[in-house]
Amino acid sequence: MTCLSGSELQLWRREQLLGQQDQAAALDWLLELEAGLLWRELQASYLHPEAPVQLRCSLQRLEQIWQQHRQQQVPLQHLVGRCPWQDLELEVSPAVLIPRQETELLVELAMGCFDASAGPQHWADLGTGSGCVALALARHWPSSCGWAVDCSGEALAVAQRNAAALGLHQGAAVHWCEGLWWQPLRPVAGQLDLVVSNPPYIPSSVVDGLEPVVRDHEPRLALDGGSDGLDALRLIIEAAPQMLAPGGWLVLEHHHDQAAAVAELLAAAGLQERRQERDLEGQMRFAVARRCNP
Ligand SMILES: C[S@@+](CC[C@H](N)C(=O)[O-])C[C@H]1O[C@@H](n2cnc3c(N)ncnc32)[C@H](O)[C@@H]1O
Repeated sequence: MTCLSGSELQLWRREQLLGQQDQAAALDWLLELEAGLLWRELQASYLHPEAPVQLRCSLQRLEQIWQQHRQQQVPLQHLVGRCPWQDLELEVSPAVLIPRQETELLVELAMGCFDASAGPQHWADLGTGSGCVALALARHWPSSCGWAVDCSGEALAVAQRNAAALGLHQGAAVHWCEGLWWQPLRPVAGQLDLVVSNPPYIPSSVVDGLEPVVRDHEPRLALDGGSDGLDALRLIIEAAPQMLAPGGWLVLEHHHDQAAAVAELLAAAGLQERRQERDLEGQMRFAVARRCNP
C-alpha cells in the first residue's frame, strides 16, 4: 500500500505523460487496474490536492509497467495480466485476444435473439479465446449447456481459469473443447440453438500493418483471417445449416468492410432472417441469421 497526497500523485502523473498527453486515458486505466485508484478518486485528487490518496502498489511498480508499455509497446493488459470486460475482470495473456468493447455488442445481439423467458438450450462459442463471450452467455443462461471451442490449448487454459475464477467449472455449464471450429461439435450437430463467433477476420496484409502493440503482442491466430480475411467466416457459415438446430441463430462479428461478403455467404448457405448490425462507431460489424424452422 502506498499513501501520498493528491498533489504528489498529480505531479507523478504529469511526469509520466510529459510529451504524450494523448496517453492520459491509458495511464489512468493503469492507475485504476493496478493501483486500485477509481476515476472518481483521481478526480477528487484535483479538487483536494492536500488530501491523502491510497494506492494498492508503489509508484515505482506503476512506472516500471508504464515504461515497458511505452518503450516496448507491450499491451498494458498483458503487463497487469487482466482486462475488464462487461462487468467481469478477465485474466489475459499473449495466448488470447484482449477482449474488445465491441464484442460486448456481439453478446447483446446474441441475447436479443431470445425471449427473456426462454434462452437457448444448447449454444456454442467458436474461437473462445479468453472465454469472454462463453462466460457472458453461461452467466446469462445458467441452465443452458454451452460449448466453447478454440484450436489453441493455451487459450483454452486461460478461458478455463477465467471460468473457475467466476465459479464456473469444467463439467458444469460450459464444455471447453480444443479443436478446429465445428470439428469438436460433431456430436451435437443439428442441436445448437445459438452459435456465436468472433473469429479472426483481418486480412493478412492488414495484420502486417497494425500498430505494434497489437501486431507484435496479440496472437496472430486470433487476428489473421487469410488473404481476404474471410477464411474462418467462410468455414463457419458454410457448415452452420448442418450444425444449427432448426430455427437456431448464428451471430457473427466481422471486419468493417466485410458486410457485403458476409451477407452473400449467409444467403448462399440458405440462412434466413439475415440482418446486419453496426458497432458503436456506426460501422457494419455484425451479422445475424438463422436456420429455417421447417
Ligand atoms: C478474434 S479471437 C476471439 C477471442 C474471443 N472470442 C473474443 O471475442 O475476445 C479468435 C479466436 O479464434 C481462435 N481460432 C483461430 N483459428 C481457429 C480454428 N481454426 N479453430 C478454432 N479456433 C480458432 C483463436 O485462437 C482465437 O482465440
